[in-house]
Amino acid sequence: MVRYSVIAGKSSEELGEKLSKKLKAKLIRSQIKVFPDGESKITLSKKPTKHCIVVQSTYPPVDTNLMQALSLISKAKEHADSVTAVIPYMGYARQDREFLPGEIVTMNVIANLFKGSGVTSLIVVDIHSVIGLKYFKIKTKNVSAIPDLVKYFKKMNLKNPLIVSPDQGGKERAKKFAENFESNYIALTKERDRKSGKVEIKNADLEEVRGRDLILVDDMISTGGSIIKATQFLKKQKCRRVYVACTHALLMNNAETKIRKAGVTKIISANTVPGKTSAVDVSNSIAKAII
Ligand code: R5P
Repeated sequence: MVRYSVIAGKSSEELGEKLSKKLKAKLIRSQIKVFPDGESKITLSKKPTKHCIVVQSTYPPVDTNLMQALSLISKAKEHADSVTAVIPYMGYARQDREFLPGEIVTMNVIANLFKGSGVTSLIVVDIHSVIGLKYFKIKTKNVSAIPDLVKYFKKMNLKNPLIVSPDQGGKERAKKFAENFESNYIALTKERDRKSGKVEIKNADLEEVRGRDLILVDDMISTGGSIIKATQFLKKQKCRRVYVACTHALLMNNAETKIRKAGVTKIISANTVPGKTSAVDVSNSIAKAII
């Protein structure tokens, strides 16, 4: 008997299909029509089973994909006893605290919306910070894409590679990558102006990177500002090639071209956000978190 059904939302169609194969689940496709005013009309191809998994990343258009995720969960709940939401990229995850007075903690709002839709558990991949998960009063898991990204980079022939985090906040991520990759790591010091969003690297000279291939590891690329500043700094320090390993490559406003122009040889990301750089499949790691 088929235990699970997997609803593959429009933003994660391929990942949902891969996951349903791995779980030997019933695959339910979602047909979406987005009207000129932006509203979505969703139709499911089949009825969910008692244990239903909804896969839908909430990358841009974030609010549309989020609304579709909530609608899919809510429909699944009409048939299923348990509904696991797999949100590989969780939009709004950077808004998990009140950084400046008066700011709304949107992760808290999202947690309430998910609760209202009837979800029973939540799986995300490399959420910006696990702080964002504390607002969900349900079972949550944060799957790491790092072992899958490392597998990809191990096949490359890099010269004396060093893992670099573009900021102190990503230190643990870089450490984990370096441990899996069996190399060393460093973390740069980045400062972001909370009002303008502009970033700057505050390090003094770094002898350590000279002549070495570097892998910049980050959870996400949005505008590319963090990666560009880090690459410009590292190139000044006379490193060899710069690669980027990131989980979620949103690559907004031509970010890929800008990053390449700054001197990055290759960007590799996970299929949490499908696109040109998403060569790394995380369906196996998500499946392991479900079983
Ligand atoms: C910041 O702390 C994150 O880990 C990313 O480095 C950042 O959000 C990426 O955004 P952008 O590409 O716009 O610099």
